[in-house]
Amino acid sequence: MLVLDRVGKSYQGNLALAPLSLEVEQGERVAVLGPSGSGKTTLLHLIGGVVQPDQGTIALEGNLLANMSSGRELASLVGIMHQQLDLVPHLAVVHNILAGRLGHWSLWRSLASLVSAREKHLAQSALERVGIPEKLNERTSHLSGGEQQRVAMARLLVQQSKVVLADEPIASLDPARAEDLMQLLTTIVSESNKTLLASLHSIDLTRKFFSRAIGLRNGELQFDLPVDKLTNEVLYRLYNLTETQV
Ligand SMILES: Nc1ncnc2c1ncn2[C@@H]1O[C@H](COP(=O)(O)OP(=O)(O)O)[C@@H](O)[C@H]1O
Ligand SMILES: [Mg+2]
Repeated sequence: MLVLDRVGKSYQGNLALAPLSLEVEQGERVAVLGPSGSGKTTLLHLIGGVVQPDQGTIALEGNLLANMSSGRELASLVGIMHQQLDLVPHLAVVHNILAGRLGHWSLWRSLASLVSAREKHLAQSALERVGIPEKLNERTSHLSGGEQQRVAMARLLVQQSKVVLADEPIASLDPARAEDLMQLLTTIVSESNKTLLASLHSIDLTRKFFSRAIGLRNGELQFDLPVDKLTNEVLYRLYNLTETQV
């Protein structure tokens, strides 16, 4: 499904991700772990085509990302939920959700939708799916952080991509809401057998909701393990902690 072959990235000569190879099967749920600055966002941005690698290749369903002709082709394959969500605060929820359809629509149709909210029903059912159906016409900036995270998820839903990338989707949520949201995200991806790569800092939620975990440290891949092999020792080493600090 997804193959990275010696993909590396530096910013202004500073290494963000050392050459890394990775294969992910369709339907796998992969947690990307590591301290801040370890390269998690860089990895997700490379796979999502947000930044270009300095070296190596990325292939989705056998097609090289670098050869994809349009953003639309990429959008049908990969959806990304950014750490900063990327919602337009002054727009109504419905428009932020329908922005997820841009990959499916002609420019004309996309613009028309901003005016007339066509396919409103699509947005409505996505919003129902994420548990806030009453917010369709609300101004996005009036929603709480957790609700905005749900809107970003609804936008992913309407995009119908095969791979979902989520960059710290539960950062800034309290533990109960974090678990709810992770449950929702993994339910959504497993219903349609999507592939999920998500960065997060919770070991408990990694064990609960993911099948596999990769650990990054200083831009280097430290481990790539099924979650049942994720021992405390492996984690202490990743975060450079002693047992008493955990
Ligand atoms: N756009 C950028 N310009 C310069 N340096 C960057 C940029 N994005 C990330 N970096 C650097 O690359 C490294 C990895 O960052 P990042 O992928 O954001 O890590 P993480 O998501 O794990 O916190 C860090 O040292 C960071 O400062
Ligand atoms: Mg990050």
